[in-house]
This record gives sequence, structure tokens and C-alpha cells, in this order.
Amino acid sequence: MRLKAMPPLRLMIAVGLMLAPLVVALAAAVHSEALSSGVAALVGLLPLLGAGLALRLHQREAAAVADYAAQLSHSGSPTPPTGAPVALGGLIAAVARLHRVAARRTESVQAQLDANDSILDALPSPLLVMDAARQVTRANLMARDLFGDKVLGRDLAATLRTPAVLEAVDAVLGGGATRVFEFTLPVPVERTFEAQVKPFQRTLPAADPLADPVADSANDGLSVPAPVPQTIRMAILTLHDVTAARRSEQMRADFIANASHELRTPLSSLLGFIETLRGPARDDPEAQDRFLAIMHDQASRMSRLVNDLLSLSRIELDEHMLPNGRVDVLDELENVIAALELKAAERRIRLILDAPDSVPRVAGDDDQLTQVFQNLVSNAIKYTREDSDVTVQVTVVDGAAVGFAGLPASGRRGGRGGARMVAVAVRDQGEGIARTHLPRLTERFYRVDAARSRAMGGTGLGLAIVKHIVNRHRGRLTIESEVGVGSAFTVYLPATDESLGAADSAARRKAG
Ligand SMILES: Nc1ncnc2c1ncn2[C@@H]1O[C@H](COP(=O)(O)OP(=O)(O)OP(=O)(O)O)[C@@H](O)[C@H]1O
Ligand SMILES: [Mg+2]
Repeated sequence: MRLKAMPPLRLMIAVGLMLAPLVVALAAAVHSEALSSGVAALVGLLPLLGAGLALRLHQREAAAVADYAAQLSHSGSPTPPTGAPVALGGLIAAVARLHRVAARRTESVQAQLDANDSILDALPSPLLVMDAARQVTRANLMARDLFGDKVLGRDLAATLRTPAVLEAVDAVLGGGATRVFEFTLPVPVERTFEAQVKPFQRTLPAADPLADPVADSANDGLSVPAPVPQTIRMAILTLHDVTAARRSEQMRADFIANASHELRTPLSSLLGFIETLRGPARDDPEAQDRFLAIMHDQASRMSRLVNDLLSLSRIELDEHMLPNGRVDVLDELENVIAALELKAAERRIRLILDAPDSVPRVAGDDDQLTQVFQNLVSNAIKYTREDSDVTVQVTVVDGAAVGFAGLPASGRRGGRGGARMVAVAVRDQGEGIARTHLPRLTERFYRVDAARSRAMGGTGLGLAIVKHIVNRHRGRLTIESEVGVGSAFTVYLPATDESLGAADSAARRKAG
């Protein structure tokens, strides 16, 4: 803003008013002939010129102060006008002080805004703020992580095209009440969000008229109109990721559906046979024998299923508690192999244990580890080719080499170096499993060929049980398979520092 020079007419009137009493006095003196009119004109003209000059100078200095104030509001630190007279010097100091106070206030408002940004960024859920034109004016860290930095300053529709979200935001911006709903983002990975769109009124200070060059030119620099604040309606969108909750609900529902389905099949077959035994087969002892054998199979299947389900829920219950026993894996494996040898022989399968003389004990529950090895070896027997080898290989490996970190202290050798793991790999020479099935094999009831597994008496819970037991032991299960070649299921278990001496293992082998 520039202070304009006073128009000449105004200047003359101002000077005329200042000198009016002198003119009246001089006129009276001329009238009473105390002064000649020439002298009176001279006496009147000199103060007139002096006052005009003084007013002009004063006005120039006032303009310099106004300039200084304008520069302060734009650039922040101009040099104050030099050679200012005492009266305006005070004014310059007052303007500079006023500016310093305003600058401090701005800084503190800025600090408050920065703190608000940090608080928004600390929120665990994405949050976006849209203005009346649906442009995103704020996005917290989680929102920027989800949608990228380019979300800011653009229409929400440019980033998030879900119609339900856009509709809700439009409705809220149009005066509607808060909306809560769920939607799914299909990419990059499918995620389900619970969204809340809330209205929010924001009062904006009106544009500063002095900052507007058009308004400024119409302004005489003395009267500044007060800015009129403006209220605008905005919308706040918060997203809450409910993918895990929805997935677990779905899994629970699937689980109940699967379990009931698995039980219903043998149950309806049992009911059918009971009907037949009471009716058409009442007097047919040969058919009765046949049917009773099938009924026995079906009942055993139901009992196995119920046992597996109970075992799974028990394991899940104490999955968070580390087992406190010490288990000799070789002992367990020898027992499991001995128990399954007969079943293997039926398909002319050779069970081979390939292990060092001794391995460190693992922290574990022996019954549960027996269940793990039994499941894996019996799967290998069931799904491998007839007349082939199933090898159970035991090795001691460095945990770090197989991607292990953060193991309990008992899994570390001498407190430093890599954690030792006992690896048990069960390898078969079966037809293998296609890659697409691998990630889902440990899901409950998941079977590559359900009919075949069911025909072999499988419930599809074996590997789910294995996975939960291995988790409880803070171990890991890996599955490698090649179609047409065979599969390898490897269980890694953290070793303790207790090593079996050679004498122990020799004694054990002798006893075995
Ligand atoms: N060694 C293997 N070779 C090929 N496929 C396998 C092997 N082990 C498991 N599978 C596949 O994984 C599926 C799931 O195995 P899991 O042990 O959980 O169930 P199951 O053997 O069918 O039944 P259960 O073990 O409860 O009696 C099996 O149905 C089978 O399709
Ligand atoms: Mg199995």
C-alpha cells in the first residue's frame, strides 16, 4: 500500500484554515491603517509558504512510514526509513513492535498447526479432509501411505473411485449427517475398510483487502474495512481396516460349515444303513455283516474328526504358552516310524531315518511333537507312490541361515552366534503338489483332492494341527514340492543347550 500525496486543492484549504486567524488579524490592521497593504501581504505570504512546505515534508515522511509498514507485511525485515524526525521516529518504532508481536503470534499458530499435523500423523488409521469442492486438503501419514502423496490437492475421486465413498462424501458436503459404511479396496491386496464420513464446519478469515491490489488502489490508506469471516462445510473421512476381523469371521463361518458338512456325510450314511438293516436287510445276515463293517468305518471317521477338532482347539488354546519339556526328537521319530511301519508295508513303502547319532534336545511337548511327526509321515505314506522310499532326515542347522530371528535364549548356543535349530524333513516320492495349493495346505479341511483324501479316511485337519503345534513351539514349517517328483515337509524346532552325549544315544540305540 502506498500513501497518496494530498491533492493540491485540499492542501491549499488546509493551509488556508491554518492561517485564517492571521489573515483576519492582518485585514483588521490594514483596515485600521496600522499596516500598509503591501507589508500585510508580505507578512501573510511568508507563513503561507512556510506552512505549505512543512505540510509537504510531513506528508512525505508519513508516506515513508506507510511504505515501511507495507514492506514489513510483505517481506518481513525491511530497513526502517532513515533521517526520520522525532515524531514519526516513534511511529516507526511502534509499527516495528506491532509487526514483531504479529510475527510471534504467527509463529505460535504455525507451531500449533505443526503439532496438529503430528497428532494426525500419529493416528493409526487413514484420515482425509475434503473441502466443499471435494478436494483433499489434508491427509494424515496413514492416508498418504495408502493412497500416495498425490492424494493432496486433488478431487477425492482422482484417488478413490469407490462409488459408495464418493456418494457419502457428496451427501455430507451437501448438508447430510454422518455416514458409516463398509467398502472393499481390491488392489494391491484386497482390504476391507469401515469408513466414517463426518461433516465439519470451518470458519475461514476473509481475504485481506489490503493484500488485494484492486481494493488497495480504491483505498485512501486511512480506512481499512474489517474482513468478513466465511464459513465453509467440509467432510472428514476416516478409514478403519477391518480386513483381519472380517477374514476371521469368514473363517469361523467356513469352519462351522466345513465341520458340519464333514460330520453330516458319514452321519447320513449311518442313518441310511440303519434304515436298511431294519427293513430290506432284516433277514440277510450277509448284507448285515457288510453294512455293519461300513457303519463301523463311518462311525470311526466321525470319531476321528471329533478327536481332531478337539485336539486342534486344545492346541489353539495354549498356543501362546511355550511347552516346558525337553524332547529327544530322534526318540520320538523312532517310535513314530515303528508305529507306522505296518501301514507303510501295505503299500510297499520303505521308511528310512537319516539322522546323526545325536542331536540337541528341543524345548517341547513330546505328545504334540509325536502328533506332528505322525501326521507328516502318515501323509507321506498316504500320498506317495507305491513301492517307494519315504525319508525322514534330521539335521542341526543355523537358525539365521533359515531366516530365524528373535528366538528364546534356550535356542542360542553359548549366548552368542546363530540359534541352533533341529530340522526334521519328511520326503516322499509321490506325485507332488501344484504350487497354487501350497499356501493353503495348512488351512483346516483344505485338501488338494478332497474325494481321494476322504476315501483314505482323511479329515483335512492333519496339517492344520501340525502348523499350530509348530507355532506353539516357536518353530517353522516349510513345504517344498515338485509335481511328478515328490514333496518335502520340514519342521524346524529351536534346540536347547542340552546336548545328548554319545553315550546316551548309544545306550538309546541299543535299547531300541
Ligand atoms: N506328502 C504329501 N504329498 C502330496 N499331497 C499331500 C501330502 N501331504 C499332504 N498333502 C495334501 O494336503 C492335504 C491336507 O493334508 P492334511 O494332512 O491336512 O489332511 P489329510 O491328510 O487329507 O487328512 P488328515 O491328515 O486329517 O487325516 C491332503 O489332503 C493332501 O491333498
Ligand atoms: Mg494328513
